[in-house]
Amino acid sequence: MTETPSTARPVDRWFEEFFPVRQALPARAWVSRASTDAPELDLDGPWRFQLHGRADAPEALADPDLDDGSWAEIAVPGHWQLQGHGSPAYTNVVYPFPVDPPFVPEENPTGDHRRRFVLPEGFLTADARAVLRFEGVDSAFRVWVDGTEVGRSVGSRLPVEFDVTDALRDNASGEHVVAVRVHQWSSASYLEDQDMWWMSGIFRSVRLLARPVGGVEDVFVHAGWVGGTGSLQVDVESTAPARVRVPELGVDVAAGERVEVAAEPWSAETPRLYDAVVATDAEEVRLRIGFRTVDITDGVFRVNGRPVKLRGVNRHEVNPDRGRSVTEADMLTDVLLMKRHNVNAVRTSHYPPHPRFLDLCDEYGLWVVDECDLETHGFFEVGWRNNPSDDPRWRAAYLDRMRRTVERDKNHPSIVLWSLGNESDTGQNLAAMTEWIRGRDDSRKIHYEHDWNCPYVDVYSRMYADHAETAQIATRTEEPLADAELDAARRAMPFVQCEYAHAMGNGPGGLVEYQDLFESSDRMMGGFVWEWIDHGLRQRDELGRQRFAYGGDFGEVLHDGAFVADGLVLPDRTPSPGLLDYAAVVAQVRFTVEETPAGDRLRLTNHYDQIGLDHVRFRWSVTDDGLSVAAGLLPTPDLPARASVLLDVPDEVAALAPSPAERWLTVTAELAEDAAWAPAGHRLSTGQLLLTPAVPRETQATPIAPVRRGADVLLGPARFDARTGELRAIGDLPVGAVRADLWRAPTDNDEGMHGDPVAKLWRENGLHRLRHRTAAVALLDDAVVVSGRTAAAGTDTGFITSARWSASRGADGVEELRLDLDVVPDGPALPAPLPRLGVRLELPRSLRSLRWFGRGPGEAYADTGAATVVGRFERTIEELQTPYVRPQENGRRADVRWAELTGSGAGLRIEGEPTIAVTVRRWSTEELDAAAHDVELTDSGTVHLHLDVAQHGIGTGSCGPGALPQHRLEAAPATVSVRFRALPQG
Ligand code: GAL
Repeated sequence: MTETPSTARPVDRWFEEFFPVRQALPARAWVSRASTDAPELDLDGPWRFQLHGRADAPEALADPDLDDGSWAEIAVPGHWQLQGHGSPAYTNVVYPFPVDPPFVPEENPTGDHRRRFVLPEGFLTADARAVLRFEGVDSAFRVWVDGTEVGRSVGSRLPVEFDVTDALRDNASGEHVVAVRVHQWSSASYLEDQDMWWMSGIFRSVRLLARPVGGVEDVFVHAGWVGGTGSLQVDVESTAPARVRVPELGVDVAAGERVEVAAEPWSAETPRLYDAVVATDAEEVRLRIGFRTVDITDGVFRVNGRPVKLRGVNRHEVNPDRGRSVTEADMLTDVLLMKRHNVNAVRTSHYPPHPRFLDLCDEYGLWVVDECDLETHGFFEVGWRNNPSDDPRWRAAYLDRMRRTVERDKNHPSIVLWSLGNESDTGQNLAAMTEWIRGRDDSRKIHYEHDWNCPYVDVYSRMYADHAETAQIATRTEEPLADAELDAARRAMPFVQCEYAHAMGNGPGGLVEYQDLFESSDRMMGGFVWEWIDHGLRQRDELGRQRFAYGGDFGEVLHDGAFVADGLVLPDRTPSPGLLDYAAVVAQVRFTVEETPAGDRLRLTNHYDQIGLDHVRFRWSVTDDGLSVAAGLLPTPDLPARASVLLDVPDEVAALAPSPAERWLTVTAELAEDAAWAPAGHRLSTGQLLLTPAVPRETQATPIAPVRRGADVLLGPARFDARTGELRAIGDLPVGAVRADLWRAPTDNDEGMHGDPVAKLWRENGLHRLRHRTAAVALLDDAVVVSGRTAAAGTDTGFITSARWSASRGADGVEELRLDLDVVPDGPALPAPLPRLGVRLELPRSLRSLRWFGRGPGEAYADTGAATVVGRFERTIEELQTPYVRPQENGRRADVRWAELTGSGAGLRIEGEPTIAVTVRRWSTEELDAAAHDVELTDSGTVHLHLDVAQHGIGTGSCGPGALPQHRLEAAPATVSVRFRALPQG
C-alpha cells in the first residue's frame, strides 16, 4: 500500500492560525446606543442555534435560504453551555486540551447561530456604511451576512466590527440573515486561560450600526488636571469637521484644539463628570468627561498630584445563571456593593469588562486597572515551553488584543492603569504591547505582574506576597534583582499587590496586617483582594435541590474544584463576612483605640486621599451590658485628607452615672446626605471604646455538693450518668455527648490548595477522627470530675482531659453549673497547630435561636471579624450559618459574655469566663466536613453547640500565607471554662 503524501488539512482550520482575525475594522472607542444619534439595530434576543461536536460540520448555516425551523432557540447574549447545550468546565491553570499550540483537538464544540432581521425604513441611507458589531464572542467566530462571509475574529472579551454594507446591499429582499459559527477552541484559547469557567458563545451584545458619511468614527478625550486647572483636547476621527462642546465649561472648540478650563477634578472620591457633545454635520455623540492626571513622582503613584491608596478588588464578570453574560443590573449591583463597602478600586481581572461597567465606574467613582484579555498560564504546566509571550509568531495577536482594549476603553477617567494581562510569563510580545500603549496613550501607567524584573511596566506588582516580604517592599529593602540596573528601576517604582487576601470560603484572615503595611509607606499603592465574587453556577443536584456548582459538578475530567468560589460575595451577590471585614479594615473614615495618659481614647483618621469629611455625620451611643443608655451626635471634625484627630468623649458621657455594667462608647460614621451610591444614614464605619469594664459580680454563691440518686448523680441544675460520668441534662434540657472539641471542618484556607495547607497535617494526625476514653469518674465534695483521654485512631498522640463539674446557688436562688475542662497534650508533639480548643455538646432540636452579648452580629475568628462590634444580638440557628459554597467551618460568634439558646422547650444560658466563642448548628462538624455543597446540610435532629476558647486563625492559605504566627493555635495545656444555667420553657 502506498501513502499519498499530503499537507492539506481536512477542513479550513483558520481558527488555528496565530492571528486569525480577518476583515475587522480598526478598533475604536465604545459608544453606547444611547450616546449617538446614528441609527442602530439591536440584534440581541432569540437566535436560532445548533451545536456540533466538531468544527468541520458542513457550512449550511451560511445559506440564507436554509430552513432553520427545526433548530433550537438560544438567547443572545448568552453562553450555549448555560442554555442546555453542552456543559461548562472549570480549570484554573491547566488547559483542558493538549498543549500543542496553535492547534486544538477535533472535539471542538461549535455553535451555529442564525438570526433574521429587517432593516428599519431609512436605516441605510445612500452612502452610509453598515457595520456589524460584536461586543464579545467566545472564542473564534466567522460571520456571514446573506450568505457572504463578512469576517472572522478571536479575542473573546473584546469587540470587533465588520463592514457588512456590500453584503446587505447585494440582497434586495427585505429580510436579511446573519449567521455566526462559533468554535469553543481556537488558537486564541491559548491566550485566554484565565481562572474561570470555560464557556462559549455570543455572550455580549450584537448591534448593526448605520455609519453615516462624515460621522464620528472615533473619539479620544484627553482631559488632564494639573495645579487646579483642567486641560482638554478631544481628537476626533471623521471625514468631516467636528466640534466639541462642554456647555457647563463654556467650551465650544474644534476637534483637536487644546483648551484650559476651570474644571473640577475627577477622582474615585469625587467622580465629577462633565457632559460633552462631539458633533459633525452627520452625527452627534454624547460623552462624559472627567479631568484627572495620573503620575508617578518620587516613586509614588498619584492622581491629581496626590498619592492614592487602592482598596481594591479583582472582578470577574459572573452571574450564577448567565455566566459572563452579565446584565446591567449585575454591574450596577457590583458597583454599589463596592462603594458601600469602602472599596475604591477594581482590577478587571483578567479581561476588559462589559463596556457599561466602566461607565458606572466613571459615574460612581472607582479607580480601574483595565486588564487586557490575556493569560497563558497553562504553559506553566509544561515549564513555560512554547509560551506565546516570547514567540514572535504570536506578536500580532498580542498587539491586536492590547489595541482593542485601549481603543475601546480610552475615554474612561476611571482607568488609571492599563494592564497587559495576567500570568503569561515574560517576553518580547508583552514588551511590544507596552511600546504600543506608550505611543498611543501616555495618560495612564502600565501594569503587568508576571515579570518580576519589571522591564516594561511603570509599577512593581506582585500577587500574594506575604506580610514579611510586603514589609520589606514597603521600606524599599526587598531582595535585589540580579541585574543592578533593573533593580534600581524597580526599587524606584511604586508597589501594588494586584492580588492578595484570597477570599475563598471563610476569610480572608490577615487583612488588618496587610492594610497596616499598605498604609505604612507612600510607596505602597495598596492592593486588590482576590476576588470579588464566587463563580458558582446555579444547578440542580441529583435530588433536584438547587446548589451553586463548582469545578467537577459538570462531570469535567480535569477540574479545580471549589477554587472557582473565592469571592467576597457569594454567587448570588450576598456579601460574605469577608466583605464586611474588608469594609471595616479599609474604611476611609476609621476609628482606632489609642492609649493616652488620660486613658484610652478613640482616634479618628480621614483615610480619603483627596477629600475632607464634610459628607460624614458622626453618632455616638453608650451601652451598659449592650443596652443603650445615651446617644447623640458628634460634631464633624474639619479633617483634611489623610489627617487624624483624637476624639473627645462627649460631655454627656462623662456625666452619666457610674454603673457596674460593661460600658462601651460606640461611634459611627455615616453619610450625612444621600450619595449616588447610598442613601443618607448609610454606615461607613464604626469605632468602639470600652469606657468601664464590668464590675465582677459579688459571689455570694453557695457551692452545691453532688448527690448520688439511683443511676444518676445530681449536681445543682445538672444530672449525670453515675457510671459513665456523662452529663445528661441541665434543668429540663437534655444534653448529650459532651466532649473536648479540638476539630473543625477545614476551611478552604486550611486546605491550602495553592498556599499553606494545615488541614492535610490535621488529617494525617487524625484530628478528624478523635476518639474518647473515660478513665475515671470521681465524686468529690464539691465537684464531679471526669477524666480521660482524647486521641486519634491510629496514633499515640493525644490529650489528657479532665472535666471538673461544679455547681452553686446564687443569692437569687438560681443554680449554676460550671465546667472547667483541662486539656493537656500527651505523647509525641503534634506537628501542626490545633484547629480548635473547646467543648462540644449535643442539645435537642427544639432550640431555635441564640441571643448573646458579645461580638457580632457576624462571625469572627482570631484574624477575621474586623466588622464585628460588642453588643447584644439575636439570630436564629439558621441565620447563624454562613452558606459558603463549599461547606466548612463558619458562624463562630466571638467574645461572648453570655448567650441564651432558646426554643419551644427548655433553654440554656451560657456564660464565659469571662468570654467564650459560640457556634450553633443543626448538623455536626463531621457532617459539615463531609458535605460538598451547602444544600446537603440538613437538620440532623440535634442541635450541636460548640464553645471554644480559641481556634486557629483563618489566614489566606488557599492561595498565599496561612495564619500569621500570632493567630496560630499551638497545642499547649489549656483550660476551657464555662458556666451554664437552665432556662425554663417558653
Ligand atoms: C492568581 C490568578 C488568579 C486566580 C488566583 C487564585 O494566580 O491570577 O486568576 O487564579 O491566583 O484564585
